[in-house]
Amino acid sequence: MTGCGVAAGRAGSGVGRAVFEPVALGPIALRNRIIKAATFEGRTPRGMVTDGLVDFHRQMAEGGVAMTTVAYLAVSPDGRTDRHCAVLSEATLPDLERLTAAVHGAGAAVSAQIGHAGLVANSRSNGTAAVAPSRRLSAGGTLARALTDEGIERITGDYRRAAEIAVRAGFDCIEVHLGHDYLLSSFLSPRLNHRRDSWGGRLANRARFPLQAVGAVREAVGDRAALTVKLNMSDGIPSGFWLDESLAFAGMLESQGAVDAIELTGGSSLSNPMYLFRGDAPRTEFAATLPAPLRFGFKVSGGRFLRDYAFEEAYFLPYARQFLRETSLPLILLGGVNRLATAEGAVAEGFTLVAMGRALLRQPDLVSIWARGEADEGLCVHCNKCIPTIYSGTRCVLVGADQAG
Ligand SMILES: Cc1cc2nc3c(=O)[nH]c(=O)nc-3n(C[C@H](O)[C@H](O)[C@H](O)COP(=O)(O)O)c2cc1C
Ligand code: SF4
Repeated sequence: MTGCGVAAGRAGSGVGRAVFEPVALGPIALRNRIIKAATFEGRTPRGMVTDGLVDFHRQMAEGGVAMTTVAYLAVSPDGRTDRHCAVLSEATLPDLERLTAAVHGAGAAVSAQIGHAGLVANSRSNGTAAVAPSRRLSAGGTLARALTDEGIERITGDYRRAAEIAVRAGFDCIEVHLGHDYLLSSFLSPRLNHRRDSWGGRLANRARFPLQAVGAVREAVGDRAALTVKLNMSDGIPSGFWLDESLAFAGMLESQGAVDAIELTGGSSLSNPMYLFRGDAPRTEFAATLPAPLRFGFKVSGGRFLRDYAFEEAYFLPYARQFLRETSLPLILLGGVNRLATAEGAVAEGFTLVAMGRALLRQPDLVSIWARGEADEGLCVHCNKCIPTIYSGTRCVLVGADQAG
């Protein structure tokens, strides 16, 4: 994955700017510093990897990103968010190989975001009980079981096996999801993890399972792929995982020596998702995705679930800067990056990579546009109406609107 490939060499273009220069990420080389963050694609009906998923990532690669991330591939069937989520398995391997080949053909690298949904799983849709550090109501409305020691070891093995499959499928990087209340982040959270055994209590105990899973992934992939984690800096809820512990956990990751970079995120899928997005809260559009009996309840309490947070460019930067000071691990800035100057500033400050989600849903070729010097800002307006489209094929609702009328 070498060679920039997106800079056109015109006056005012990105040639010579650090953000468009190649960089190493562990054992792999990336053609520039901008990667596509995971945005669940909604293109895996009943877990099948479709041409639509392949095309989605081919388009991102053709648009100039250094690496695109295939969102949320479950490490096991019980780790799916719902039955329309793909599992890394022998069954999906051939189609995933097709996907990675398509991305490589367009000159980019490709990462697999892997995880176990834990409390975020819709257990009714999955047909299996949700699991969690401690017994608690899951997102699917059923009671999640507290994991036993055997369950933790079984899921650690699932991470190992899933990572091996991802490498065989041709992924260049594995991103282990340690955020947003998914299983490993729920172990980190003092609000969700009430265990009294060696997997709960003080941070060193709550960190054991995430570190064990990350270590298993590294053992499985060796230097055949890069390994990143997507880590919450703050859950954005009272008594959740917060900056002080997240910084300490980054230190543990650094001592462990298994990961090549940390992508910094925040927010709680269960209690405060808008903390992670900022901008308009798409309450009406979200309500429309719910079964009729739940819509009334959402009308009453939806404002508390989808809260209002004003959008600011690079809203996580003040928290992320603290990691730059505390760890020497390479860092990936994420959250509200919409301007070339922001990406350039981040690289100049010391972030190894900049990840973008919505800006690239809006304009998959934004990196090429920046590199050619045609614009220095993206067109995403942070309306967040793309979020409820994850149930019907993730898309920016404004794509095509430019041409209409
Ligand atoms: C439609 C949509 C789907 C998303 N799905 C995922 C996902 O599957 N996994 C994940 O870690 N983050 C997911 N995210 C969050 C993004 O990775 C990113 O953290 C967030 O959008 C903030 O970055 P941005 O301001 O560049 O969009 C999603 C975001 C959007 C807009
Ligand atoms: S729908 Fe489009 S414009 Fe609105 S937040 Fe999503 S990507 Fe941005």
